[in-house]
Amino acid sequence: MAIVTGGAQGLGLEYAGRLLQAGARVAVVDVDHDAAAAAAADLGRRYGAHRVVAHRCDVSDEAAVTTTLQQVIASWSGPLVLINNAGGALLPSAPARSFSRTEWDRVLAVNLSGAWLCANAVVPRMRADGYGKIVNISSTMVSKGWPVGLAPYIAAKAGVVGLTRALARELGPHGIRVNAIAPGYVPVATKKVVHEPQAANALRERIAAEQCVPQTLVPADLCGPIEFLSSADSDFVTGQVINVDGGWTFD
Ligand SMILES: NC(=O)c1ccc[n+]([C@@H]2O[C@H](COP(=O)([O-])OP(=O)(O)OC[C@H]3O[C@@H](n4cnc5c(N)ncnc54)[C@H](O)[C@@H]3O)[C@@H](O)[C@H]2O)c1
Repeated sequence: MAIVTGGAQGLGLEYAGRLLQAGARVAVVDVDHDAAAAAAADLGRRYGAHRVVAHRCDVSDEAAVTTTLQQVIASWSGPLVLINNAGGALLPSAPARSFSRTEWDRVLAVNLSGAWLCANAVVPRMRADGYGKIVNISSTMVSKGWPVGLAPYIAAKAGVVGLTRALARELGPHGIRVNAIAPGYVPVATKKVVHEPQAANALRERIAAEQCVPQTLVPADLCGPIEFLSSADSDFVTGQVINVDGGWTFD
């Protein structure tokens, strides 16, 4: 059973589809209720309605996370996978000093604290099972510290790397593997507020040109690593951050 946060749209929806293809049952957990319901209906038509559920939940809301994930876990058995995907830069690109404290806190709450809260909600069950897989989503922008204008987002995603390593150490003795992927820049259909379309296009071209494989990433490029880190094939891999960026970064 896999829980995919932010699974209603964009990359999370791709991950949900790939995990269903691989045989998992999937719970789509997303703050956007209508998009989550539509995603679950579409995935259900393709892979079987009994294998998909949708829940509305803001991952930064501790009470909602606890209630929602307990409900998901109680209804399904089998090895548990958590894909901590909900997040994004959320705000228009701007100088670091110009963000309000509220804006800063919100980006960290969704991208970093949300991953921690969701992990907290599943770990008791994983410990009881003596097995579990947590896959966090960082970003290769952490290695670059670039593009300029995304300080809260890059700080939050750097925190995700630390959280991944700390949880891997703490939970490894209980059979729980914790890894992350760090995607490069992947255009998705979801409307973004971060860059104007022209700037986003220029960014995409510049990043692609700097990669070893000079092509723009597509969502499907990330699905293989997600499936691998969710499966028993990666049982001796933990605490790792896998850059999936066409060779844009090496560390
Ligand atoms: N697209 C990229 O280039 C890229 C690169 C590196 C990392 N990432 C990361 O991958 C993840 C998915 O990115 P995406 O481009 O598909 O984004 P997206 O905006 O297309 O989709 C994000 C999904 O998360 C949901 N969401 C947002 N806030 C939430 C919250 N508080 N609680 C629950 N759900 C919430 C949204 O409703 C949406 O369905 C994010 O963590 C993002 O930071 C994306």
